[in-house]
Order: sequence, then C-alpha cells, then structure tokens
Amino acid sequence: MEYVIDNGHIIVADQAKIDRNDRGYHFGDGIYEVIRVYNGKPFTMDMHVKRFEESAKKLDMVLTLSLSKLEELLMELVKKNALQDGIIYVQMTRGISPRNHLYSRNEKAVITGYTQEMPSKVELQQNGIDVWVTDDIRWLRCDIKTINLLGNVLAKREAADHDCHEAIQHRNGIVTEGSSSNLFLIKDRILYTHPATNLILNGITRQVVIGLAKELGYEVFEEAFPKDVIEHADEAFITSTTSEVTPIKSFQGQVEVTLEVGPITRQLQEAFEKEK
Ligand code: PDD
Repeated sequence: MEYVIDNGHIIVADQAKIDRNDRGYHFGDGIYEVIRVYNGKPFTMDMHVKRFEESAKKLDMVLTLSLSKLEELLMELVKKNALQDGIIYVQMTRGISPRNHLYSRNEKAVITGYTQEMPSKVELQQNGIDVWVTDDIRWLRCDIKTINLLGNVLAKREAADHDCHEAIQHRNGIVTEGSSSNLFLIKDRILYTHPATNLILNGITRQVVIGLAKELGYEVFEEAFPKDVIEHADEAFITSTTSEVTPIKSFQGQVEVTLEVGPITRQLQEAFEKEK
C-alpha cells in the first residue's frame, strides 16, 4: 500500500483529497523540497527542511510544525512506504480559500507529500549530458523554492525539443543555473559557479559539492560569469538532488561547445558517492 502526507497527516494514497480552492492551484502559492533517500536514509534532510523554512519566511508564510516534527513526519513516510532509493517530495501551500490575489495571514497552510523510487542515473553520470543554453525568463526571487516554476518548465521543454537533457539559463548574458540544477565550470583546476544570490536556488547538492571540492584542495569561485566563457571551460557539470553530479558533454544553442568528461568531475563524483 502507498502512503502520502495529506494535510499534515500520513494516510493511504487513494484517500488523499486535494481542495480545488487550494492557493497552490490558483496562484502556485506554495513551496516545496525534494530530498534524496539512499538505503532508506534521507540525505542532508536537515539542510532541506531548513531551506523549506527559509522559503516559507521569504513568502510571508509560517511553517505549521517545527523542523524536528517535519523531519519525523517525512521519516515516518519513508518507513511506511519502505522506500530504499528514491525521493521525498514535500510541499506547503499557503492555504485553502476562494480565489483572491490578496492572501490573509490567517490561512491554514496545507502540507502534502509523497515518496517515489528513483535509482541514481548511472548512465547519464557516466557519459554526460547535452545542455541547451537559453534566456532566463524567471522572476527575481529564484532563491525561493516555490512551486511556481513556469520559467523553469518552459526552459526544460525548450531543451528537450533540441534533444538536450537540461537547459542552462542566462540573464542578459550572465549564466545563472539550470532549469532544475546548478551549474559548475572548471578552468585551470578552479571551479566557478554563480553566487547564492536572489538569481539562483542555492542547491543543497551545490553546497555539498563546494564543500567536497574545497576538502580536495580545489579553489571554488562563487562568481557570476558571462555565457561566452563557457567556450573556454575544461570541464562542466550540473548538480541537483536528482542528478547528483552529472557531467556536461556539450553546450548547444546560444553557446556551442563539446567537452570531455574530465578528471576533476570524476573525482567529485567519487567524493559525492562516498558522502551519500
Ligand atoms: N530541483 N536550481 C533549481 C532551479 C532547482 O530546481 C534545483 C533542484 C536546483 C538544485 O537544488 P538541490 O541541489 O537542492 O536539489 C537548483 C529539484 C531537484 C526539483 O525541482 O525536482
């Protein structure tokens, strides 16, 4: 039997009901997290729930349960579903009320969630992916992990229409991040990635990989760079909860470059493998 979180409680999936007046439906007015589970254990759960809380604060929402209670609830769901390798999806919308742009601060937030089996994408991580470079048309608070992901889904579709696995976005020529991942370039043994500003999501995998790279003795520059620099990169990879460390074998579209999967990317993949 499959279990889900419905309005903050664990119930059988078939019995879950979604209210048509949920603000998540009308306005995409909510936040979410995707947390990886390896061998039945959530990975970096503490960092994810902290970011969940931060996203809530930034959107003038209040988490209806403490972070430790939230962790307990998610852990219980993992156990009930006997999840070994996969993800936990958890979201919180502002509440249920007749459609009105103006929200009330008395809305009762709705927490829902589920788990999904997902083995590591070994083949992609081994061989690398093709990415499509396109304009970043998203709003100016990409640091908030909101369920309102229109810019991201359009970019992903555009990439797929060009047989690419991910879209790499740039804002007025300055590279920001992927449609559902962060981007790293490597040049002369130095790692470059966009700083954690309002223009990107500060990925948990990004933070873990920056830590691992520094432990391995590499310099990491959290600096914005123009898309033309991609042409000079020695290696490039994306990071995310679902893609872990995935090498890029070609950039296409507004930048055209073919790359080898390089030794530093491999070293970071190995370090990440040990960490999980
Ligand atoms: N996406 N940037 C964006 C826009 C993202 O949507 C994600 C993750 C990341 C990487 O964050 P993290 O390392 O914390 O997963 C960066 C998730 C996986 C998703 O929406 O499915």
